Amino acid sequence: MPAIVLLGAQWGDEGKGRIIDYLAQEADVVIRFQGGDNAGHTVINAFGKHALHLIPSGIFNPRTQNIIGSGCVVNPQSLLQEMEVLEASGVELENLWVSTRAQLLMPYHRELDGLEEAARGKDTIGTTRRGIGPAYADKAARVGLRMGDLLQPGWLERRLANALRTVNRKIELLGGTPQDGDVLYALCMGYRENLGGRIIDTLPMTRRAVQQQKQILLEGQLGVMRDLDWGIYPYVTSSNPTAAYAASGAGLPARLLDRVLGVVKAYSTAVGEGPFPTELHDADGARLREVGSEFGATTGRPRRCGWFDGVAIGYAAWLNGMTGLAITKLDVLDGFESLKICVGYQLPDGVVVADSMPDTPVLLQVTPVYEVWEGWRCSTAGCRRWEALPSQARAYLQRISELAGIPIDYVSVGAARGQVFAV
Ligand code: GDP
Ligand code: IMO
Ligand code: MG
Repeated sequence: MPAIVLLGAQWGDEGKGRIIDYLAQEADVVIRFQGGDNAGHTVINAFGKHALHLIPSGIFNPRTQNIIGSGCVVNPQSLLQEMEVLEASGVELENLWVSTRAQLLMPYHRELDGLEEAARGKDTIGTTRRGIGPAYADKAARVGLRMGDLLQPGWLERRLANALRTVNRKIELLGGTPQDGDVLYALCMGYRENLGGRIIDTLPMTRRAVQQQKQILLEGQLGVMRDLDWGIYPYVTSSNPTAAYAASGAGLPARLLDRVLGVVKAYSTAVGEGPFPTELHDADGARLREVGSEFGATTGRPRRCGWFDGVAIGYAAWLNGMTGLAITKLDVLDGFESLKICVGYQLPDGVVVADSMPDTPVLLQVTPVYEVWEGWRCSTAGCRRWEALPSQARAYLQRISELAGIPIDYVSVGAARGQVFAV
């Protein structure tokens, strides 16, 4: 029974949504294991174009059970909005479930995210301002509320009062307006009314799925380089988008995860602050942004664009025990005369590193060492098998695979459902 973990292998927005939509056609269960509505996973299929923020990308397959796992932080308001949009497009939501153990992201978390970002001044992280950091901070500080609390009004009331004692002091300290407990409690009762039936202990469901040899797909949000422990701290998210956390955040024994698929773009992009060694500030960067439509699916922010980072992929592949790559957006490179791949970072003292990831203050000072690869100057959008790709594109992809140390499982040459093939 293969349980597959699907991760972003770079800085996020690698095209996870489109690959999961493709794989979910065969999956019985899809579980989002971390993050919240900071995600923007774009899926284009017969239901139209959707940017999924919280709902697992398996939702378009009516046979698939979709679980928002215990490792997530859930803003019910966003979830309800997202459900409304999907329902209006004719998507069946019968199989959407939320773990009782997932954290409840409250309006004060968003308020705090904005206040904390403002307080950081020029040291901003560039968060999505969705309240993700403050919600995970409350989880760790043990003042968080959980989705299951919505089902226990007396307990919820007590927990909310407990949370507000510290939260409101923080808000006041940062110059915000304290939030009213009664208003929040009433809001929670509304969430309970609208979502109560979907909030379940998901373990029996996943346990049954394992016993019945069902296909389980774990959906990561963001990417390895924004991992709380292994990313470019502090310019990271507040959870772990890495494979090691997938089992815990989804509620599965770790030894059941037998395939780890890393999704990578054929070049690099990032939104938010922090080191990004291969970033381009020239015409090539502008071209990648324009041709690749590199604007945030959640915030609309222009994405920073750069050449493919082979050091970061080697790091991400090893750290996550990746078994294969899904390479997306190859078509965006069609027409470039030549392409570059970063194969090392030159440190300020001249030493070149290729098999480790320098810590953030050092990474901010590295100079990428590039290899130059010949472009293919023709369209790949219609290719549906490896052999159909231009030889230069195959050579370029093979080099990426070599730097990652793992094979390529899928290649995507366009955003539509049909424009991806297994290798
Ligand atoms: P995610 O957050 O990892 O799911 O990625 P996003 O949805 O935020 O960003 C990926 C963007 O690239 C979306 O707009 C997708 O529709 C688009 N996309 C995905 N795969 C391809 C591809 O192979 N070619 C092109 N041109 N666009 C793609
Ligand atoms: P998907 O799932 C790209 C970035 C933010 C910021 C940092 C922390 O679509 O790949 P947060 O709001 O999580 O506290 O922000 O992480 N970030 C993303 N970048 N794609 C995302 O999601 C992101 N979610 C957060 O820009 O740098
Ligand atoms: Mg995205």
